[in-house]
Amino acid sequence: METRLPLIAGNWKMHKTGDEAVQAAKHLKELTAKAVGVEIMIAPTFTALSQVAAVLAGSNIALGAQNLHWENQGAFTGEISAAMLVNAGCRYAIVGHSERRQYFGETDQTVQRKIRAAVAAGLRPVMCIGETEAERESGQTFSVLDKQIQKGLESFVLQDLKTLVVAYEPVWAIGTGKTATKEQAQEAHAYIRRQLAGIVDDGFARLVRILYGGSVKPSNIKELMAMPDVDGALVGGASLDPETFSQLAHYRG
Ligand code: PGA
Repeated sequence: METRLPLIAGNWKMHKTGDEAVQAAKHLKELTAKAVGVEIMIAPTFTALSQVAAVLAGSNIALGAQNLHWENQGAFTGEISAAMLVNAGCRYAIVGHSERRQYFGETDQTVQRKIRAAVAAGLRPVMCIGETEAERESGQTFSVLDKQIQKGLESFVLQDLKTLVVAYEPVWAIGTGKTATKEQAQEAHAYIRRQLAGIVDDGFARLVRILYGGSVKPSNIKELMAMPDVDGALVGGASLDPETFSQLAHYRG
């Protein structure tokens, strides 16, 4: 039976210059050289990608981007295309992070276009979804997730989604120190997997990796990863320090 290889991904957000990113990547590479049974990814800022790619060559750490534009090229000042990211050494691209939705006007429709561009270029998209605190408190968690999934993946066929990773990141848990309980995470992940079975099929839903994100740290990763539908973590703050992130990659102990 095929299984889901756990993915521990670090989103460095707007932290670390190129030099700082290289230092951190070198250290992380040493610390995780013997990690087995887990895939590791880091997403540094755009300007550090090529330098970090050179450091990671031949290691078991994949490179990811934090965002991309949906067009291949053209007059889109300040934007970066999927082809450019592939050329810089990326294998993954985070799409629709809640900070992009909140501060940069990203919508389910732009998420959908970005996933399409990523897949077309051979990048594995990490689609982020999650509810705000107000949405959770008013009982809308599942309807929000459903809308984000339906609209974000609208008009895709199975073949397009083979490399998709989903990240469930409750907005109220990002950078706040508040983590979803393992039961809350499991409930949301199971719901997401059921919705994916509905819009794609059961086989796809069984194999798609669903990461949890939101204040993941060494003290809570083990219990989150023990949940049957949690297949990895998307980590912000705790990914910045190589020692701490390496502990997360070695969550099995
Ligand atoms: P955090 O961020 O781990 O700092 O909460 C998670 C994320 O934004 O992906």
